[in-house]
Amino acid sequence: MSNETIQAVRGMNDILPDEAALWLWFEEVVRDWLHSYGYRNIRMPLVEPTALFKRAIGEVTDIVEKEMYSFEDAMNGDHLTLRPEGTASCVRAVLQHNLLYNAPQRLYYSGQMFRHERPQKGRYRQFHQFGVEALGFAGPDIDAEQILMCARLWKKLGLTDVTLQLNTLGDAASRHAHRAKLIAYFEQHAELLDAEAQRRLHSNPLRILDSKNPAMQELIAGAPKLMDELEEDALKHFEAVQAILKRHDVPFEINPRLVRGLDYYNRTVFEWVTTRLGAQGTICAGGRYDGLVEQIGGKPAPATGFAMGVERLLALLQDDGMALPKAEVDVYVVHQGELACQLASTVAEQLRDDGLRVVLHCGGGSFKSQMKKADASGARVAVVIGDDEALANEVSVKPMQGGEQERVSVQNLTSTVNKFIKRE
Ligand code: HAM
Repeated sequence: MSNETIQAVRGMNDILPDEAALWLWFEEVVRDWLHSYGYRNIRMPLVEPTALFKRAIGEVTDIVEKEMYSFEDAMNGDHLTLRPEGTASCVRAVLQHNLLYNAPQRLYYSGQMFRHERPQKGRYRQFHQFGVEALGFAGPDIDAEQILMCARLWKKLGLTDVTLQLNTLGDAASRHAHRAKLIAYFEQHAELLDAEAQRRLHSNPLRILDSKNPAMQELIAGAPKLMDELEEDALKHFEAVQAILKRHDVPFEINPRLVRGLDYYNRTVFEWVTTRLGAQGTICAGGRYDGLVEQIGGKPAPATGFAMGVERLLALLQDDGMALPKAEVDVYVVHQGELACQLASTVAEQLRDDGLRVVLHCGGGSFKSQMKKADASGARVAVVIGDDEALANEVSVKPMQGGEQERVSVQNLTSTVNKFIKRE
């Protein structure tokens, strides 16, 4: 048997305790912000039937064609997939449990997503999203509200250089007309299409507009614009979203080439982008998906949502020089001797009853080595117990930042600790 160390899967990261402290802080800020807009938490499984994502995201998308972690359940042959995104699962859960019956829903979820992409800075095979979905709302007010929400979060986090790209994808009829025109246009210039574009020409011509191939940029720039096909309602919707954003002084740039990599969108789509993270600059993205509920088997219901990439947002915050918050310990309890050991665990529990964060030294060692551990723990106070203290039901309290050690009765311990902690 080999005893080589086993490493994590490529593109899937451990989040070690120092960094996890930043994650915890961030998750709390985001949850508070979501609750302040009336969004409620929903939690879906990480594994779903493969058919769900094929149907929701679209067969001819990068995600479904080449990025899903799909497998067959060895026990019963079911086709399963590690979720590459949360919208499909969220809609599935809402329908399965009939949540949309007579009540629109504002929901959010967070957690791991899995895509077999080529790993690079800001792009991982396991990554984390906060996803936000409003189901059962048709008007432009909710599209705008979700964008305003994001703007508020960036402000709260102190992020100043994220910009908003906005587009509309219209409705089914205009997309149909536009699609036919696109195919005709690209067919006319077939010799200029690369292999990927040729493959997509008839299955998903809209995605050709998204190509980064420099040789095709001129061709793409001259392609028929969806904006010219938009029906009255979709245009009005888009104008109303813009008007609300303007009224709230949220700047945006209209990007007619913003098509998104998932097929379920219609009307409003948006991305929040920064130039500071290199090629992976989109920190948050989403839009309206009025057809998805029906596509997954529900009664038609309009919906809109977005998701943000947690790794990318945290990278931005760290780039801004945001310090990692330190996990705090109030008290480290050191002890030597059998009686002292018993009192130490009693005292540690008592301090925790009183709301303090306490580390009880485990594993023996001299007082000196235990005090070194107390120092390294970042505790503000050490409680020191030897057998002579234990016999008298007393302990010594030592402020770690210097100052006189005090010997006190066990009854007076919490107040003495609190006195030292407040004094600092
Ligand atoms: P998405 O654009 O595929 O949309 O992903 C949303 C965000 O997740 C991206 O903007 C990015 O910040 C982050 N992200 C995506 N892939 C990776 C990766 N490989 N590594 C690190 N971060 C990544 C969706 O997933 C839709 N479900 C959003 C949505 C919700 N639309 C409507 N509702």
